[in-house]
This record gives sequence, structure tokens and C-alpha cells, in this order.
Amino acid sequence: ISLGILGSGSGSNMQAIMDAIASEQLNARIVIVLSDNPDAYILERAAKNGIPTRIIDCGDYRTRFPEEAQRETARQLKEAGVGLVCLAGFMRLVKAPLLEAFPSRILNIHPSLLPAYPGMMAWEQAVTDGATESGCTVHLVDEGMDTGPILAQARVPVLPDDTAATLHQRIQVEEHRLYPETIANHAATLEPQLPPEGGR
Ligand code: GRF
Repeated sequence: ISLGILGSGSGSNMQAIMDAIASEQLNARIVIVLSDNPDAYILERAAKNGIPTRIIDCGDYRTRFPEEAQRETARQLKEAGVGLVCLAGFMRLVKAPLLEAFPSRILNIHPSLLPAYPGMMAWEQAVTDGATESGCTVHLVDEGMDTGPILAQARVPVLPDDTAATLHQRIQVEEHRLYPETIANHAATLEPQLPPEGGR
């Protein structure tokens, strides 16, 4: 299946996806990487691996994902022949224009055991809350914030002397295993090509 990746940051999850493809644990190809942050390291990682990149122009909006930008993103993904979209540290909320273009074909990885701790800095929320366990969740993206149907989860302990940073590290190890595996499982349930516009 052809993957399109959306990310705003370091792209360590995309790296894990690339590694799983290289070791033939995931039968896929990353055909395009888009970022709303021109300085994001994920773009550099993609370029180093010869993967085409695009900047998503969100104008002056710092957190919103303007409709026009979503339509343009959908257009770019379609043009690249993407069959499955993977959010990997993408920091804006995806809404109708993009969701409708890729029904059941947008995944996200979130650093908590959803529905616990949605939103930003979930690892910090877990530490502050005194949780004894956390983890990560791969889910289908819907209009809400980290609310879509859950596909897979992995658990990690929260240790008494954990900081937000040490917990995040432990969670990321699990993310890097869980995301490629869940992408493979979900892709196996989909037709490799998106049905034509208006089709089912
Ligand atoms: C991950 O912890 C992911 O769960 C969250 O953002 C972080 C992205 O990290 N959505 P990276 O850019 O993949 O390194």
C-alpha cells in the first residue's frame, strides 16, 4: 500500500515505519511526506531517504488546520497515489475535507492509553496525574481530538521516579513497534487503491 505521512516534528515514528518497510515487516511504500512546519526534522529524514516532501501552508494559524489547506493536502495525497494516510506527530486537527477524501484511511498514534489523556503532552498528563500505567494507542482519525475507533494499544508502566521525559521515552519504544505493525494489519483490511471519487 502507498503511505502518505503527515508530521510536525522529529519523525521518529516515520523512521520506525521506514525501518519496518526496509526489513520487510511492512509491505508498503512511503510516497509523500507533508509537514505544516518547514523546520521539522521529519522533512529532513524523508529527503535523506529520497521521499518527496511538501510543506502544508496554514498561513498565520498556529494550531488551526484551515479548510483550504486540508483540501490542498488531500489533493497532494491523491496526486501521489496514497492509499493510507499516517499521522506521525502531526499537531493539527484533521476535519471533513481531508477525512472525506480518505474514509477509514487515516491513522494516528497517540502517546497514552486512550480514552485517557487525549490532547497535547499526554505523557506529562499521566505523570502529573500519578498514573501507574500508560502506553500508546493507534486509532482511526475522526473529527474529534484523539477520539476515533481504537485499532491497537501497548502498555508501559509509569515508574515512581519517572519524569515526563523518561515516560515519553519508554512510550516511544512501544510506539515504534506498534505503529508499523498496526499499519500492516489495517492495510490488509483495505483495497490497496482508493475507490474512485463517489465510489464505495
Ligand atoms: C509521538 O509521541 C506521537 O505519539 C505523538 O507525537 C509524537 C511524535 O513523535 N502524536 P515523532 O515525531 O514520531 O518522533
